[in-house]
Amino acid sequence: MRQDSRFPNLFILNHPLIQHKLTHMRDRETSTRTFRELLREITLLMGYEITRNLPLTTVSIETPLQTIEAPIIAGKKLVVVPVLRAGIGMSDGLLELVPSARVGHIGVYRDPDTHRPVEYLVRLPDLAERIFILCDPMLATGNSAVHAVDVLKKRAVGDDQIIFMALVAAPEGIEVFQKAHPDVKVYVASLDSHLNEHAYIVPGLGDAGDRLFGTK
Ligand code: URA
Repeated sequence: MRQDSRFPNLFILNHPLIQHKLTHMRDRETSTRTFRELLREITLLMGYEITRNLPLTTVSIETPLQTIEAPIIAGKKLVVVPVLRAGIGMSDGLLELVPSARVGHIGVYRDPDTHRPVEYLVRLPDLAERIFILCDPMLATGNSAVHAVDVLKKRAVGDDQIIFMALVAAPEGIEVFQKAHPDVKVYVASLDSHLNEHAYIVPGLGDAGDRLFGTK
C-alpha cells in the first residue's frame, strides 16, 4: 500500500497482482468479458485490504475437540453501495467476499455539459450501526463521489462509517473529494496523471461503464 503526501486519506493499493490486472483493463483491446472479470478480480484483492481493519469480536463455538472463543466480525454490518452504473462491476466482487452484506444503490449520472452529478436513484437499507463501502471504478472530477458521500451523511452516517473504493482516480478528483470529506478514507488501485478537457482520466481506461457493459 502506498500513500501520496498531498492526500493523507488516500490509500493506493499497489499490489503486483492488482497492477498487473489493471494494465490489462487499461488496454483498449481487452474485451468486455475480460474487462468485467478483471474488475471483479481486482475488487476481490482490494476488498481483502479494505476489510483488513474491520473490528472483530469472539463467539463461543465447539470444535470436534474443544470449546473455544473464536473470532468473528463484530457488530457493525457491512453495506456495499455501488454508484450506478459502473459501481455494479465492483459490488459483485465485494459481495463474494462478504455475502451477508446489505446492498444500497446510488444512481448518479454526469451531466455531459456541466460534468456535475445528477441524482436519479437512492435506495439504502436500514442505516443504523453499519459500515458503508461506496464503490465506483472511476473517481474523475470527484463530484459524483462527493455527492454519494453527501447522500449518506445527510442520513447521519459518520465519516468513520464510510469507505470509498475506486479503481482509478485523478488527482483533481481526489483534491475535490478530500476538501469535501477530509475524514473519509479512499482506496484506489491507481492515482493517474490528470483529467482531460472532457473530464476523462488520463491515461485511465476510457468509460468504465461502457467497457463493463459493452455499451457505447
Ligand atoms: N468516468 C469514466 O468512466 N472514465 C473516466 O475516465 C472518467 C469518468
